[in-house]
Amino acid sequence: MADNKRLRVGVLFGGRSGEHEISLRSALTVMSAMDPARYEIVPVGIGRDGRWYLQRDALKLLAEKTPHLAALGAGGTQVTLLPHPEGQSLIATPADGARGDVTRTHDAIPDIDVVFPVLHGTYGEDGTVQGLLELAGIAYVGAGVLGSAIGMDKDAQKRLLRDAGVAVVKYFSIERADYHDTPQLGAKLARKLGYPVFVKPNALGSSIGISKVKRAGDLNAALDDAFQYDRKALIEASCEGREFECAVLGNDRPEASIPGEVLVTGAHDFYDYESKYVDPEGSATKIPADLPAAKAKKLSAMAVAAFKALSLRGMARVDFLASRDLRQIYVNEVNTIPGFTSISMYPKLWEASGIPLPKLIDRLIELALEEHRERASLKITYQPTPSAKAGD
Ligand SMILES: Nc1ncnc2c1ncn2[C@@H]1O[C@H](COP(=O)(O)OP(=O)(O)O)[C@@H](O)[C@H]1O
Ligand SMILES: [Mg+2]
Repeated sequence: MADNKRLRVGVLFGGRSGEHEISLRSALTVMSAMDPARYEIVPVGIGRDGRWYLQRDALKLLAEKTPHLAALGAGGTQVTLLPHPEGQSLIATPADGARGDVTRTHDAIPDIDVVFPVLHGTYGEDGTVQGLLELAGIAYVGAGVLGSAIGMDKDAQKRLLRDAGVAVVKYFSIERADYHDTPQLGAKLARKLGYPVFVKPNALGSSIGISKVKRAGDLNAALDDAFQYDRKALIEASCEGREFECAVLGNDRPEASIPGEVLVTGAHDFYDYESKYVDPEGSATKIPADLPAAKAKKLSAMAVAAFKALSLRGMARVDFLASRDLRQIYVNEVNTIPGFTSISMYPKLWEASGIPLPKLIDRLIELALEEHRERASLKITYQPTPSAKAGD
């Protein structure tokens, strides 16, 4: 531990992802809300190229108007994560960033108690960083390797949800190679669902590569677009009406917040990239969602069921699609490292449910440590008890 009372928390941000900038904004909110009396923050910025930088001045840098990682990397020391016999260390690598020489280095920061990966999307939310932390034996906030990987894979996720009795829209998945061999395959599947359909890459986020397709003639262009991002695409039946989100918190006994609503406004056909991030009037959120109590309860119950079905830990935001009359409610997707910007749903939902951000962070860190202890206590080898057979 950093000193007698403070926990040393590695905060990871940036990363090799289309959501790099969102992560910087999330990290600023998270670090600003961490109680300095309880936590010593070790800020680590990850460049778009994947390099890690110890960024002592991160709060100041991120608070500047347009944070970008060039600035982060420039002022930081390149570091790597190494298992260390007396605890885990972040170790500074040589200034030129040469990889091989991490043993002859200085500026080690030993004993990171817990890591908070504030990374969205690929190489951060998808189980890869979680695997690295797992190998290094460090506690970390949020879902583990499997839950994170499932959280990024829409097809795997929907299959598990369906299997657990959690409603998802009807959809088909289609592989790029099969589509190239049989170009009419998409149209055949879409016909079974009925237009409009949504076409999306299997594993991405931020609505990138997603199209709403209103007629068969436009389908293959949408598939070609989606296949730029993934070898697998989904063709989904459309469920348009309203969109809700619930925040979930916990390990074995997760709890859901009250639901919030996302209102897509202006000229946007759905909650696309522009309405999410570009157009300031493109979307709005309403907390709590304007819903009959029974429906709000149903959403919260579905959120918890989804969290459990997908083996999630710590936190997740569960997103829903509903028909306007609320007769149909589907889980659309989960986000295992939801946005933590000052206007993000996950922290706002908890705040409205009685847990302000500093308390939420305390809880997430507690859950990370609890999960780590629990995993460490599990046996990974089997020692047979001596039996009579030995004397046979
Ligand atoms: N089946 C669907 N029916 C209606 N709208 C959809 C459907 N799938 C996606 N959308 C719209 O597209 C947005 C982004 O889709 P989503 O699956 O959440 O992808 P991402 O992971 O990129 O956020 C949703 O928030 C919603 O507005
Ligand atoms: Mg989404």
